Amino acid sequence: MTENAIGIFDSGLGGLTAVKELVKLLPNENVIYFGDTARVPYGNRSKRTIIRYAEQDADFLLSRGVKMIIAACGTVSSVAVNLKDELPVPFTGVVAPTAYAAAHATKNGRIGVIGTSATVNSGSYKNELLRLDRSFSVFQQDCPLFVSLVENSFISPDDDIVKLVVERYLKGLKEQDIDTLILGCTHFPIIAQAISNYLDGKVTLIDSGKETALYAVKLLEKNNLFNRSTEPGSCRYYVSDTVEDFRRTAEIFLGRNVGNEVSHINLEHAFVH
Ligand code: DGL
Repeated sequence: MTENAIGIFDSGLGGLTAVKELVKLLPNENVIYFGDTARVPYGNRSKRTIIRYAEQDADFLLSRGVKMIIAACGTVSSVAVNLKDELPVPFTGVVAPTAYAAAHATKNGRIGVIGTSATVNSGSYKNELLRLDRSFSVFQQDCPLFVSLVENSFISPDDDIVKLVVERYLKGLKEQDIDTLILGCTHFPIIAQAISNYLDGKVTLIDSGKETALYAVKLLEKNNLFNRSTEPGSCRYYVSDTVEDFRRTAEIFLGRNVGNEVSHINLEHAFVH
């Protein structure tokens, strides 16, 4: 069981922010990633649809025998809140670990939250922050176009389109004197440099993918699930749409070629084999 892979899923490329960190922290673990690229974005869909997609994504990972599941998706973590109770393996989403990190990072108690529309409407991060400390001032902004930028490889901080969209969404937050900003969608750390540049490098950015990977290490430890093998672990990536775009952006973001590790999977046929 301990040699089984850690399963990570997201609607698309965003969950790679968790994979990148996890592989750094636990190089001997095997990882299976599923990006639902045929159905991205999730963030502007109904609660019912997001829950159904999340259950199917988790089922696919379970069919591959994973020992733990990480929903590396702010939207799923905010909306499919009962998923945890339905799974036979340990599970974490991104909201609680990310809010916890932000609560510890802020000095002035003024925290911004950006995410998809579904995430912001759910109030998930805000509620978690206020649960940790009622005196926080929390400012939210949904930034749905960030997901499309990332999925279409518009990720350079020097790209005029990226700069324009960042300014449009973050102008209001910049005026609120926040000292900490939660990147509450796992796609957003991929354009973190552009976000930081716009905020003049003065705001601490909390990366939901990274914080969740850090928490996943604790969860593995708690459940005695560390892979004791000393061999380097493997990564397998599955996407529900074509592999080419995923390969290109994944390579830029992870800094290495993922060519042969990526396969297409049709979720409807995923359980046939
Ligand atoms: N990466 C996702 C999130 O963290 C999903 C974005 C989307 O599909 O809209 O919310």
